[in-house]
Amino acid sequence: KQDADQLIIDAGQKQFGATTCSSCGMVYSADNPEDNFQHTQFHQSFLDSIRFVGWKKERVVAEFWDGKILLVMPDDPKYATKKADEVRRVADNELGFQQVTLSRPTLAKTYLFVNTARMVVGCLIAEPIRQAYRVLQQPDRLKDMTKDDFMERHRAWCCSTVPEQALCGISRIWVFSLARRQGIATRMLDTVRSTFMYGSHLTKEEIAFSDPTPDGKLFASKYCNT
Ligand code: ACO
Ligand code: ZN
Repeated sequence: KQDADQLIIDAGQKQFGATTCSSCGMVYSADNPEDNFQHTQFHQSFLDSIRFVGWKKERVVAEFWDGKILLVMPDDPKYATKKADEVRRVADNELGFQQVTLSRPTLAKTYLFVNTARMVVGCLIAEPIRQAYRVLQQPDRLKDMTKDDFMERHRAWCCSTVPEQALCGISRIWVFSLARRQGIATRMLDTVRSTFMYGSHLTKEEIAFSDPTPDGKLFASKYCNT
């Protein structure tokens, strides 16, 4: 799948001179000076957004050989909430969210995965919810769709009309493109389950993903079945 996508990008490069930056994700024309300039600027602000300088107080909720997970609460010091907002904006930008506000910002918990190179390579926003509608799979319709059909795929999810009880809604989950498939999203979710509600461990059924993207759906179905 990845290879097929790469081929499309390579073909695009020959035809239109377009390059996709593998870290910031921007598509630009490398032989156009103005495009190059815009990419340099965007790339820099992207790196600034995910750079982590270290905080006076860090709420470390998990530690690993390749990084740690910090929890940021809405009432935390400005330096923490500002970084959480910055990373959320990076994630929203990639998810194509324009101005999606959190349903209850004062209750949202942000989990940041900081790697050993001091970059925030993962971000997860969890909010308390009461009920959710299970996404029903439609494998046949989805099989023929291409990656470009994002909106089409997005709409293709069909939800059950029967609400089910859920306690924790995942409104965003994002992992830096170069850090994917290393279990970062899995570890962030495991950490949410053990820390989101004080004194209780949430089951996979008590977690719900809001509006999953194709990547999010693939990840979520894998995570929930294991
Ligand atoms: N395609 C197929 N399977 C996948 C994919 C994928 N793109 N991503 C994860 N999986 C499955 C795999 O089985 C994987 O295990 P494996 O690597 O051993 O095969 C398993 O899920 C666990 O994956 P992780 O490594 O824990 O996931 P990762 O850290 O790569 O993050 C994520 C997954 C968050 C979806 C990432 O791809 C991403 O940030 N994508 C762009 C943003 C996005 O679409 N986020 C979801 C939005 S939905 C929402 O926010 C509610
Ligand atoms: Zn870039």
